[in-house]
Amino acid sequence: MLRRLSLTQPDSFEFTPKNLAWAQAQMTKFPEGRQQSAVIPLLWRAQEQEGWLTRPAIEYVADLLGMAYIRALEVATFYFMFQLHPVGRIANIQICGTTTCMICGAGDLIAVCRDKIAATPHTLSADGNFSWEEVECLGACSNAPMAQIGKDYYEDLTAEKLAGLIDALAAGQVPVPGPQNGRFSSEPLGGPVALAALKGTGEELNASASLAVRLRDTVKRIDGTEAPILTPWQRRPDAATDDGDPADEPRPSEGRPADKTGITEQEAAGTSAGRPQSAREPAGQPADAKDTQ
Ligand code: FES
Repeated sequence: MLRRLSLTQPDSFEFTPKNLAWAQAQMTKFPEGRQQSAVIPLLWRAQEQEGWLTRPAIEYVADLLGMAYIRALEVATFYFMFQLHPVGRIANIQICGTTTCMICGAGDLIAVCRDKIAATPHTLSADGNFSWEEVECLGACSNAPMAQIGKDYYEDLTAEKLAGLIDALAAGQVPVPGPQNGRFSSEPLGGPVALAALKGTGEELNASASLAVRLRDTVKRIDGTEAPILTPWQRRPDAATDDGDPADEPRPSEGRPADKTGITEQEAAGTSAGRPQSAREPAGQPADAKDTQ
């Protein structure tokens, strides 16, 4: 699918101080000169900050990492997780339109989105609160049809259920994610057939849904307040430098005796063909050797 940048772009982008500190910390996770490896997390953080990935944000991240703009643009346009067009203030609804979901009613869900949000995907609703798109399989096929909203999955949907979810989100609520038809997780629709006696004796919600309820961050964007920056080596910069002390050198065969060649067994060249022995083939011979001799 061809993915192009939005024709409407803001004039500029820069990370908030918190996000910049986070980005710079991410860059220290890679060896000197390899900071470009941080491009995906930094683009993602830029998207979380703005809601979507703008051209100035892509170029800002490229500058931060010392990359050519085209290289960062290649990444942003390749991965579907990057939104290249403005998304709704409250949520961008991602409807799975792949085989299982399509057979089970994804077309009805898309019709709801067309009706309640906008006639075309990647288009803001009239109030700017919602947008929608069709995406490829999200890996919840046994709970088809389904949609991803923010960070969570809403499964076993019907047109009525999805319409209700959109109304609830518009009213400022965060509906409980997971199966919307009373299923616990992805057990058979008629109920579990194995360990059936345990039904109803455990948690009310499956682990994923109960975590979502606990975090309550389904449609909340990452703003830098979620977790401390976990790069402890930044507080001990000396720990990452090589001062030439031989005691710091790796000693993979320490304590093991050298053989008659003067090297340890661990360092010696292999002498076998490196393949398992077979009762039918002499060790070290390729399977078709007997046919060519
Ligand atoms: S086909 Fe929709 S989640 Fe797999």
